[in-house]
Amino acid sequence: MKSLIKSVIFLTLATFIATSVLAADGGNPRKGKHLFKKTCKTCHSSGGDGGEVTPMTKTQSQWDRLFDKKKHDEESWKNLSEQDLKDIQQFLFDHAADSPQPQTCG
Ligand code: HEC
Repeated sequence: MKSLIKSVIFLTLATFIATSVLAADGGNPRKGKHLFKKTCKTCHSSGGDGGEVTPMTKTQSQWDRLFDKKKHDEESWKNLSEQDLKDIQQFLFDHAADSPQPQTCG
């Protein structure tokens, strides 16, 4: 009987941990849009140093590659936290060129 209670507790905890990890993994696209406009657009509006960048600049897998491999110069992203970058990644991914709702403007 005791071991049954133990396994119930264990399963409950395991489920709880699994869901909170998943939630932390996903970015918040609404925040991401705001951050994208506020930070990325300072260099990436048309005529900016980095050239114009919008969600539609890349496909979903290209965005994932850029963020997962951090293929940007670190200096420009240094004021963004891991969570900020996740949020921005989520926003760009959701509106990438091959997404269901492509967007040109951040
Ligand atoms: C301080 C200025 C600056 C900021 C801020 C900045 N970038 Fe850039 N970014 C650049 C420059 C400069 C390049 C290089 C352009 C080149 O020479 O091709 C670049 C390149 C890029 C490229 C093109 C990479 C490629 O090979 O296609 C993408 C996409 C990009 N940035 C996205 C972003 C995103 C998303 C953010 C916000 C999280 C961001 N950048 C913030 C300056 C910046």
